[in-house]
Amino acid sequence: MSTKIKKFILPENEIPTAWYNIVADMKNKPLPMLHPGTKQPMKAEDLFPIFAEELSKQEVNETDRFIEIPEEVRELYKNYRSTPLVRAYGLEKALDTPAHIYFKNESVSPVGSHKLNSALPQAFYCKQEGTTNITTETGAGQWGAAMSYAAKAFGLELAVYMVKISYEQKPYRRSIMQTFGAQVIASPSMSTKAGRKILTEHPNYQGSLGTAISEALELAMGTPNCKYVLGSVLNHVSLHQTIIGLEAEKQMEMAGEYPDVVVACFGGGSNFSGISYPFLRHRISGEKNTRFVAAEPASCPKLTRGIFEYDFGDEAGYTPLIPMFTLGHDFAPAHIHAGGLRYHGAGSIVSQLKKDNLIEAVDIQQLDSFKAGILFAQAEGIIPAPESCHAIAATINEALKAKEEGKQKTILFNLSGHGLIDMAAYDAFLAEDLSNYELSDEIIRANVSKLEKLA
Ligand SMILES: Cc1ncc(COP(=O)(O)O)c(C=O)c1O
Repeated sequence: MSTKIKKFILPENEIPTAWYNIVADMKNKPLPMLHPGTKQPMKAEDLFPIFAEELSKQEVNETDRFIEIPEEVRELYKNYRSTPLVRAYGLEKALDTPAHIYFKNESVSPVGSHKLNSALPQAFYCKQEGTTNITTETGAGQWGAAMSYAAKAFGLELAVYMVKISYEQKPYRRSIMQTFGAQVIASPSMSTKAGRKILTEHPNYQGSLGTAISEALELAMGTPNCKYVLGSVLNHVSLHQTIIGLEAEKQMEMAGEYPDVVVACFGGGSNFSGISYPFLRHRISGEKNTRFVAAEPASCPKLTRGIFEYDFGDEAGYTPLIPMFTLGHDFAPAHIHAGGLRYHGAGSIVSQLKKDNLIEAVDIQQLDSFKAGILFAQAEGIIPAPESCHAIAATINEALKAKEEGKQKTILFNLSGHGLIDMAAYDAFLAEDLSNYELSDEIIRANVSKLEKLA
């Protein structure tokens, strides 16, 4: 029998009990968020009207390296964690590469993606502080599905604004949210001022994450005992996702290897942060020289072609101003099937790390992402989410480079979700009905030139 080990699983009693806060270790801290009216740095208290207090405190925490995971959240994590670290022997063989490829399989969560890692603590803190209702947005529906289950688990009422194009492309994600008891509204909608404004100006607008965030925020601000929760971008979301990398660190040790490259797809940055930050701390301390590669869609390239500036997190400009790599908060991305990557900006921590050259970014065309996803599916038997296909495409590029150079490199990527509810996208790809999208420098320049210079 072969002695090759395919997957590495941490026993439940070895699942980390604290999240890792990279800000405590960063030499250059991220710039503070600014109040949109006064342009003054925001403190945790300034965020209390929107977010749960504990989450607001986590958002601005620059000192605690580790933050304990509440017992109730750890219990629910056990429903699907630890997630397996898998050696992709099939993919290595298909590529005939000397590289060792590992992936962290976050698709095994009950809702099919990494998003539950932050949905559970966010619902927990809201409930603990006496909130009864929450609102959120969702792109491809993965965050909405995770939040719907988490809200039900903690007895909260949830309203989800789902980007209209995904509402139509992915009807079963809507059904999943409704099955867990959430109310789902296609965005833009007529139920908010932000939605009505954009529908009046652009009646056929198919929605964006930026608009859906505005609508969810507006509902939260106008509803008593209601808080808003967000699935990416913010520091506290990245913090919760570090459970991925903390587990992976122990599992790589079980495999007797250490990654030379860590890869993840990039929407607002949560799964990239989650798998990267625990390894990145050893690069910051000078012990290791691992590279970190964020794979974003060529049609929404904030890290590779955006500018670093203060910008809003949403389309209508309700959020604080966040220091970020951005394409401009009213950027309307092309209708690619990786709905979760159609976001104009990157979180403030990741943006600072990019400025400091501690991480890299690559852009991936839609057709290349699906080609990579299909190769992975055939080699490993898992159909990846269209978002995750971007990470796979970047991983394949790294593995082929290793082959060209004749180097044995260890690559770790995050499989952020499965694509079993995204088969319409695969259908379209197989029918040769999908295309790439070119984005001109003029469009990007025109969009970012509207931003006030504050950074
Ligand atoms: C499966 C999956 N992967 C990745 C992402 C991108 O988000 P983030 O950059 O926050 O990880 C999403 C967002 O919806 C997603 O659903």
